[in-house]
Amino acid sequence: MVSKKIKEEIKKLREEIHYHNWRYYVLNDPVITDYEYDLLMTKLKKMEEQYPEIITSDSPTQRIGGAITGEFPPVEHIPPMLSLDNTYTYEEVLDFDKRVKKLVNQDEIEYAVELKIDGVAVSLRYKNGIFVQGATRGNGQIGDDITGNLKTIKSIPLRLLTDEKSLLDLEVRGEVYIPRKIFEKLNKEREQAEKNLFANPRNAAAGSLKHLDPKEVAKRNLNIFIHTPVFSTNSIKTHYDAILKLKEIGFKVTPFIKKVKNIQEAIKICNEWESKKGNLAFDIDGMVIKVNSFKYHRILGHTNKSPRWAIAYKFPTKQATTKIRNVIINVGRTGKITPVAILEPVSLSGTTISRSTLHNEDEIRRKDIRIGDTVIIEKGGEIIPKVVKVITEKRTGGEKIFKMPERCPVCGSKLVRIEGEVDWRCINVRCPAQLKRGIEHFASRNAMDIEGLGTVVIEQLVNKKLVADYGDIYYLKKGDVANLERMAEKSAENLIDAIENSKKRPLFRLIFALGIRNIGIHSARLLSEHFYSIDNLKNASYEDILSIPEMGPISAKSIVKFFKEEENVRVLKKLKDAGVNIKEAKSVEKKPFSGKTFVFTGTLSHYTRDEAQEIIARLGGKPSNSISKKTDFVVVGKLPGSKYKKAKSLEVKILTEKEFIKMLPEKLRK
Ligand code: IVH
Repeated sequence: MVSKKIKEEIKKLREEIHYHNWRYYVLNDPVITDYEYDLLMTKLKKMEEQYPEIITSDSPTQRIGGAITGEFPPVEHIPPMLSLDNTYTYEEVLDFDKRVKKLVNQDEIEYAVELKIDGVAVSLRYKNGIFVQGATRGNGQIGDDITGNLKTIKSIPLRLLTDEKSLLDLEVRGEVYIPRKIFEKLNKEREQAEKNLFANPRNAAAGSLKHLDPKEVAKRNLNIFIHTPVFSTNSIKTHYDAILKLKEIGFKVTPFIKKVKNIQEAIKICNEWESKKGNLAFDIDGMVIKVNSFKYHRILGHTNKSPRWAIAYKFPTKQATTKIRNVIINVGRTGKITPVAILEPVSLSGTTISRSTLHNEDEIRRKDIRIGDTVIIEKGGEIIPKVVKVITEKRTGGEKIFKMPERCPVCGSKLVRIEGEVDWRCINVRCPAQLKRGIEHFASRNAMDIEGLGTVVIEQLVNKKLVADYGDIYYLKKGDVANLERMAEKSAENLIDAIENSKKRPLFRLIFALGIRNIGIHSARLLSEHFYSIDNLKNASYEDILSIPEMGPISAKSIVKFFKEEENVRVLKKLKDAGVNIKEAKSVEKKPFSGKTFVFTGTLSHYTRDEAQEIIARLGGKPSNSISKKTDFVVVGKLPGSKYKKAKSLEVKILTEKEFIKMLPEKLRK
């Protein structure tokens, strides 16, 4: 039996953490340091480990505790989750206002105006103040239960910050979104890992919410804005006041809401946001205008599809109509086959578009895209335009269904589609297309950064058989290069110099340049810091690689596989013989903290605890949270905890923050 005192202590601790979560994730205004927050979480985790019977679903430790689900059970929406009527012109907005005035028999209507977040609609249910169920919209009547995934969103309160009885059983609806910066980062990582890109932040959010493993969802950094209350209380009279109330009890509500006296003022606000929407950290696709009074909501009611008390004013998107002339096949660096639409050139937000990626065969089937089709293309936040939809009404009957070729259009070998993957691949390692893309990658800015070695030059070098692998680059003579088309003497000289200079690049760039599947620049850095040389990396086992905290099994497998292939080993030898740097500069010396364990207690003034721990790891040491006789150093900050006492009693070496900083190399000191 857990004593009453312990139960009380845990309850207080959870309340404290909920409060700080809210300050940080909802208000953006923390009142304690990350370190202090971590201390509270560690304490709670420890107590829950000791007394597992007191773990509750709303405990802050349970955000990513959800199990991997085989499927999402259905959830019924009562009332149904409707959608909004869309308008594209201010005349239509004025018509809406006229309809409302007539139905409620008033001369002027007060509205609340909000941003229309371009995300994924979800509903959240609270019972007795605790978050118990979250669901997707589904068909509006029935959605999917995605509670575990929603719990990973830190701005969703697991427990409401109120005791008001009428608010404890509550439902709210809102929009899950991914901020643009995080979306870009996510797509960059996916590109480097040769995974399919998300077309826009909304798709990324939708895809993430459907993931079956909450741990993966947690990595996506999803966020939410709540825009709709489903109250049972009668004390709140307007939408505006309801949103304020939701904010007060812990929700991250719609980021902009303004009460206006009439529709003209509402239109003015829409107009203002149309020009400044680009400054936001997330995507919006319009504005929502809502009748403010709940009394009028009841009078106005709703149609099958949407409420009569609200309307969306959608901003014009960057779309254009054009025709698909052909579909060609692009062969990527790792043999991935991407169908590309060749379009009748069309101007779209300032640029001429003549190509658009069709992603993969399934996407073509899903959208039923045919050669000769008239299509709508759209350029969102992303650079590559996409085909939004086919205008089937414009079909003449002469359109041709695209058939994936059976063989690689470049080398002729049979294409394969591995079960469970969406992409077809050319698996011939000697395929010239793969070779060209591979060399492009090898020479690219983040890799070996060889200026002047671009697509056109590589095309000729490979076609003339001057280069059969990236190792050959380092054996090119000025004469070879000068003979290429459109290559002047001076440019040939520059290219040879650039190739020579690239031999000195740091090891991580070389690792990235090799184009190992699933290894992006970040992983390349980790590998370089851990193994110091290509030879060590080559000899590393799957387990060795997995022992690096941020490396997962997929990357580890890719690396082992890469170095098992004789062809790769042969080319690496060529690089080595040519004098390309294959070692980390610092590799000769041992890392300064190798084999040393560090524990921190109290608050540091110059570093957050995360930063300090990261530094220890970078210097080869091991940061740890608990002290034992084997601990080498305890770094003591302000207001140290019990670890300080323990360090003394175990006679572990104690360092002040100043002493610790002195041990660091100059460039890491603050
Ligand atoms: S109010 C009856 N307010 O837009 C629906 N919706 O087609 C009431 N949306 O799926 C919704 N931002 O999820 C409302 N500030 C906002 C919104 C918003 C985005 C979404 C909503 C709905 C879709 C409408």
